[in-house]
Amino acid sequence: MNLSIRLKLIASCLPYSSRVVDVGCDHGLLDLYILENRIASKVIALDNKEGPLNQARLNFDKDKNTYPIEFVLSEGLEKVDANEFDAIVIAGMGGNNIANILLEAKNKLNNTTAIIVNPTNNFPYVRKVINKLGFKIHSEDYIMESNKTSVIIKFVRGTEKLDARQIKYGKFYDVDKSYFFVEYLKSELKLCDKLVRKIPDKTSKKVITAAEDKIYLQTLLDKI
Ligand SMILES: C[S@@+](CC[C@H](N)C(=O)[O-])C[C@H]1O[C@@H](n2cnc3c(N)ncnc32)[C@H](O)[C@@H]1O
Repeated sequence: MNLSIRLKLIASCLPYSSRVVDVGCDHGLLDLYILENRIASKVIALDNKEGPLNQARLNFDKDKNTYPIEFVLSEGLEKVDANEFDAIVIAGMGGNNIANILLEAKNKLNNTTAIIVNPTNNFPYVRKVINKLGFKIHSEDYIMESNKTSVIIKFVRGTEKLDARQIKYGKFYDVDKSYFFVEYLKSELKLCDKLVRKIPDKTSKKVITAAEDKIYLQTLLDKI
């Protein structure tokens, strides 16, 4: 199957033989791949729209396979019980949406050992919320698809204190030298620079933080 590198990376984050719920499954191609490769022992492919869910069903029916898959129409994890899954994937969505889905389901995470998220924006908020829900960062991978940078973060059960920079730029910001991460830092630097120039009140908290981040990011990039 021709699966994107982004979705393959997400698949590689899943604990072997896990019972996966894929929130926002869309086409269901990730689910087909993780069942074909026995990464998952069971999958709940979930979406809040009939259209994507039907497309996922079609993709499964094409191969006439008998994989242990269930298709569920649900807003976030609303229609799923905590004992039906032990790993969650939420990929290719805005960070606020991902964080809200997990906050809404905070009482259903007792059996969850891994959460793999792939926000397209608001990365810091996603880290902060999932960390507060009792999970620690295991790995982070930056990736570019259709000219857009996103990050794939794997969380596992556990507590850890993340400092402000780790929340903002990722847990491995001081050691990650991967191409897409460096590109991400450069774009963040540009954003800070724009903010500092745009806001007239140079004493505002926003400008001061952006100015500090700018210097920090430049130093980080110089080291790489
Ligand atoms: C851009 S697609 C991403 C598909 C796939 N996960 C990927 O990464 O390629 C986002 C999907 O999430 C679904 N979605 C968005 N918000 C949702 C929610 N609150 N609950 C369930 N599904 C949701 C959309 O209907 C859509 O099919």
